Amino acid sequence: MGEVEPGFIQEPEHRPKLHSLQAEKIPVIDLSPISNHAVSDPSSIEGLVKEIGSACKEWGFFQVTNHGVPLSLRQNIEKGSRMFFGQTLEEKRKVRRSEFSPSGYYETEHTKNVRDWKEVFDFLAKDPTLVPLTTDQHDHRLTQWTNTSPPYPPHFRDIIEEYIEEMEKLSFKLMELIALSLGLEAKRFEEFFMKDQTSFLRLNHYPPCPNPHLALGVGRHKDPGALTILSQDEVEGLEVKHKAHEQWIRIKPIPNAYIINLGDIVQVWTNDAFESPEHRVVVNSKKERFSIPFFFFPAQETEVKPLEELINDQNPSKYRTYKWGKFLVHRFNTNFKKHKVGNIQIHDFKTR
Ligand code: OGA
Ligand code: NI
Repeated sequence: MGEVEPGFIQEPEHRPKLHSLQAEKIPVIDLSPISNHAVSDPSSIEGLVKEIGSACKEWGFFQVTNHGVPLSLRQNIEKGSRMFFGQTLEEKRKVRRSEFSPSGYYETEHTKNVRDWKEVFDFLAKDPTLVPLTTDQHDHRLTQWTNTSPPYPPHFRDIIEEYIEEMEKLSFKLMELIALSLGLEAKRFEEFFMKDQTSFLRLNHYPPCPNPHLALGVGRHKDPGALTILSQDEVEGLEVKHKAHEQWIRIKPIPNAYIINLGDIVQVWTNDAFESPEHRVVVNSKKERFSIPFFFFPAQETEVKPLEELINDQNPSKYRTYKWGKFLVHRFNTNFKKHKVGNIQIHDFKTR
């Protein structure tokens, strides 16, 4: 018998299953019909809208090509991210996030109770970003989160800001396509994001991990916002759980494409017609990995609940309303202070 790779479990009965899973791929959607203009004439993009609708229904995860984001800008931010994380820990800690604002650098703990195996730099899309001061439902006072500027590499802040503008444009277009695929008017979701959105960009660095079978880059989770646009490099690691057969599927990087996934807010808006998929990041013992997600989040005052047009007597609302800003601040507080209590989940707002 030949050599068996360490960690490889020989269970022949699992092989056919594994094989069929490798053949399974998330949809790749060509956005060229809308890449240069807004969605003005829905009839010219019927095919595209159908593709988006079925990708959202079956997976909640898809890749997009011909998305209109300039390649040079993406290359600049990817290079900047490598340079930023290449600095000493001491330098990076100079732009550490604080308990007053989530923007900045932080590492996750590499202890035996392993959290996530990565380091992060977060940057708000709007500076300042308006958020509630406390999580108390009756407290209407607001506060502002502001950005931390990375001093290195030079002009990195400008590049990040320019890149965020592109991410916003693409997010608005995707939300229009999603609205059309639900039979709603294209601009249905715009009001939630036009003023005071709470979106942010995250630079992720997953260093090589000596025990990749013991740790995860990011443990299984669902993204809480409306949608996420992810740039990943050529090192694999992102996996999504397929709804129907409950197996983890590895996402193959396609050069210059973006990976889109729906978040919990779309799940609530659609009353579960489009679910936000569970995903995770597996680490690698040899190669480091970089990724850049953009989290498209609405304004803090948004009352998240199923859309009136999508519920009726046969399909009553499955959620009670929650206020986005309160949810966001609660998440940040528990995450920052590492409270023992778990993160709140949309599950907590489920009524049936
Ligand atoms: C996230 C996430 C995936 C990746 O940050 O929420 O899912 O590939 N990241 O880094
Ligand atoms: Ni995620």
